[in-house]
Amino acid sequence: MARITASVYTSHVPAIGAALDLGKAHEPYWQKVFAGYEYSKGWLREHRPDVIFLVFNDHATAFSLEMIPTFAIGTAASYAPADEGWGPRPVPVVQGHPELASHIAHSVIQEDFDLTIVNRMDVDHGLTVPLSLMCGAQDPQTGAWPCPVIPFAVNVVQYPVPSGRRCFALGQAIRRAVESFDAPLNVQIWGTGGMSHQLQGPRAGLINREWDNRFLDRLIDDPAGLAQLPHIDYVREAGSEGIELVMWLIARGAMADVAGGAKPRVAHRFYHVPASNTAVGHVILEN
Ligand code: DHB
Ligand code: FE
Repeated sequence: MARITASVYTSHVPAIGAALDLGKAHEPYWQKVFAGYEYSKGWLREHRPDVIFLVFNDHATAFSLEMIPTFAIGTAASYAPADEGWGPRPVPVVQGHPELASHIAHSVIQEDFDLTIVNRMDVDHGLTVPLSLMCGAQDPQTGAWPCPVIPFAVNVVQYPVPSGRRCFALGQAIRRAVESFDAPLNVQIWGTGGMSHQLQGPRAGLINREWDNRFLDRLIDDPAGLAQLPHIDYVREAGSEGIELVMWLIARGAMADVAGGAKPRVAHRFYHVPASNTAVGHVILEN
């Protein structure tokens, strides 16, 4: 049977991709961000999964106001890096895992979650920046990401967005789906986006270190309680784009302790301000 062995949480910021792609990663400003991922790159090499189930949000790149799925699962064989207005990132094409993705879609939809099935999707910084942070820079021609990835897109851009409570329950359904797949796959689930940031309006530039760190504490120790937080609290305390953090609850809901198992081991925790307009948070939990 397939198993979820660990969850990874990380912010995404387009400028992090640009820093890597334009050779600026060594600059002091960016060094302080990338330093938080040095451990993680070694950890991922040692705990290489067979598949990553990567929860992310599209930023009006693959989807637009014409079509807004709340939850969308990628069942394709591959996903090209998206052109977000300055050309596609020079990173490898993402290979999918259609068999496991189709199985999860089947299982989770039968458990009454409405997923959109996506057979064609370009993936934006929401997906490629977390991969770059965890895997390091990859040559688009000769390199490859370490394993297949199932992209799982959540609408946190256009209201109404899903609640943390629903995301947490969805994570639990994803865990059951993975565990009923009949192949001995080592699966990691990643929750991405956040932490506090606001890109627009009078409060643009908002960062809330105290709230972010409390969120990390509760993500680790009290995820069920954290899942009860209404979305207005995210927006008020963590800024309009801080709502991206509900995606972390999908990954957290898939961990063993939520299903009655042992508490996860905190392999790594990192927090840094600033990266572009965003507070960067990062946690690795092992089952
Ligand atoms: C920034 C952060 C985001 O999450 C995003 O999607 C776009 C920009 C930023 O910090 O600049
Ligand atoms: Fe974003």
